[in-house]
Amino acid sequence: MGDHAQRSGFAGLENGRVIPEPLARTPFAQLDDVPQPMLALLIGALESMATNPEIQRVRRVAWDAMGPISGRRLLDAGCGTGEVARELAEAGADVVALDHSTATVAAAADRHDGSPVRYINGDVAALDFPDASFDGVRCERVLQHVDDPDRAIAELVRVTRPGGRVCVVDTDWESVAVDGLPADLIDAVRAYFTGRWQQHHLGMGRTLRRRLVRAGLRDVIAIPVVCYFTHPSQVGHVLPMFNPTVPPEADVVPPDVRDAWFNAIDHAGDRDEFLAVLTIWVARGCR
Ligand SMILES: C[S@@+](CC[C@H](N)C(=O)[O-])C[C@H]1O[C@@H](n2cnc3c(N)ncnc32)[C@H](O)[C@@H]1O
Repeated sequence: MGDHAQRSGFAGLENGRVIPEPLARTPFAQLDDVPQPMLALLIGALESMATNPEIQRVRRVAWDAMGPISGRRLLDAGCGTGEVARELAEAGADVVALDHSTATVAAAADRHDGSPVRYINGDVAALDFPDASFDGVRCERVLQHVDDPDRAIAELVRVTRPGGRVCVVDTDWESVAVDGLPADLIDAVRAYFTGRWQQHHLGMGRTLRRRLVRAGLRDVIAIPVVCYFTHPSQVGHVLPMFNPTVPPEADVVPPDVRDAWFNAIDHAGDRDEFLAVLTIWVARGCR
């Protein structure tokens, strides 16, 4: 195994294909422990994602699923840089924006716009609030990163008042479909990504409905929002394997096909033949 292999944790080669070692935890599970350049990249990615039209479409579905906003006490658990928390506050809610990462809470608070948002540090799986503290809670693209998602959901339910709503949003990474690129490259990147990130809850989105039902919520609905991207420039902050600015150390693309992969993406974009699809699920239940 060469230097690069040791640094990046490659298990070896199989049928000529690089096999990565699985990551124990995702970077978003441990934002305070990632190196500063990676933290800046990930915080920048959260902000860029908030401006992506497809992510905005997912958020509109989640917004509608939350029901009335004005005058409500709401929790955004795993708030990232806090865009949604501030939008909810602007719409008249009293919002707590909570995140596990101190650096991320600081980044969210730096962007504070004076709306009624309180930014706090905390773990969604061990919330420091009394029972029934909120009229509604939301949790977007967080459960895929936590060790015990059902424990986190139980906490979200516990802090919601009877009659209040719990809304969870998560990605189904296994739903990614691609067209316009060579099939062997797509297969190599898919195998590498799922191998490297296999400890991650890659299929979290599709499990949300079942988890909310098992958590005892009623009137559970689950809506698959199919996001699609027809140019490489639209997709990079949502699907990192299409983003050439994500550094090799992030290990989302196999190093042996990296150049060929990004050249193929460029060519597909130039020919207007690029297509990538991803399903993100919005699920909601009533306490
Ligand atoms: C992919 S980001 C999503 C952020 C935001 N919800 C959004 O949609 O932009 C995941 C966030 O979950 C946070 N997170 C991860 N584990 C957490 C935990 N156990 N409790 C609270 N937040 C957590 C991370 O620090 C990060 O900000």
